Amino acid sequence: MKAKILITGRLPEEVISPLKEKFDVEINHEDRPMDRQELLQSIENIEGLLPMITDCIDEEALNCAAHLKMIANFGVGYNNIDVKAATARGIMVSNTPGVLTDVTAELAFALILSVSRRLVEGDRIIREGHFKFWAPMLFLGREVTGKTLGIIGLGKIGKAVALRARGFKMRILYYNRQRIDLAEERELMAEYVDLKTLLKKSDFVSVHVPLTEDTRHMIGREELSLMNPTAFLINTSRGPVIDEKALVTALKDGTIGGAGLDVYENEPALSPGLTECDDVTLLPHIGSGTLETRFRMASIALENLVAGLEGQAPPNIVNPEVLSKRRL
Ligand code: DGY
Repeated sequence: MKAKILITGRLPEEVISPLKEKFDVEINHEDRPMDRQELLQSIENIEGLLPMITDCIDEEALNCAAHLKMIANFGVGYNNIDVKAATARGIMVSNTPGVLTDVTAELAFALILSVSRRLVEGDRIIREGHFKFWAPMLFLGREVTGKTLGIIGLGKIGKAVALRARGFKMRILYYNRQRIDLAEERELMAEYVDLKTLLKKSDFVSVHVPLTEDTRHMIGREELSLMNPTAFLINTSRGPVIDEKALVTALKDGTIGGAGLDVYENEPALSPGLTECDDVTLLPHIGSGTLETRFRMASIALENLVAGLEGQAPPNIVNPEVLSKRRL
């Protein structure tokens, strides 16, 4: 009998087809997350799960999945999975690192340019018929070139943002749990500073940390109050890293200059007042949303899933300690 696997979101058919020869594949073909009850029922008999980042794979879900061996998350961030609980049950967990580094950095830069040069507002003005004439003091934004960019979290994506910032002749400050190698620091022309200094000195603050208990609300009222009133906050990582209510207050009070957000604290819900703030660009979590990247993410997630189910170590396992005690 073929092992059962569940893919909880619609993925490119050409990537999934070859899988059907080896496995009994159930797929949620709709472009919406599976209903919780539907998910809990569907995972009862499966050995492999390929969840989307919107599926909460917690203790309750894992308790329903007595035969589950492998969870291949469709995303680099895996805060939607209780990895500790999976490890305790001998279940392997993997993610999709690397393949979305460049596109996420691209989007962070798109947000930097959008908020500073007022792109969304400019587009709206045109569509509403308010572009009547050119005048030297109308629709003025802020320059990006030569400004200071503070990167919080200098991992793969943070470094890709730093590389792009060099093209804009920006001064790059960074804050990380651990200082990176000095040679790499020199190559990226990035200066290591503490979080307070970064917040005080940056014209743009871009967040690139994973969501963990340590990073939840890492940017709150106090941190926002340290930022410059003309500075912009950019977030393409995970919403709960920023206290969104505090952010709305800071935007309304003029504590900071604006924000570019791709992720939200209670996605897809937005904190009251956020859409009323003028100096923000709001995107629907599209950091990895290009055709090429979503294909690559699907391929890499499936590669991990198949390896795990065929008794090999998944290339992107995040809990390697489970390998010695995995479910067989
Ligand atoms: C990820 O991979 O974590 C992204 O947020 C999905 O776009």
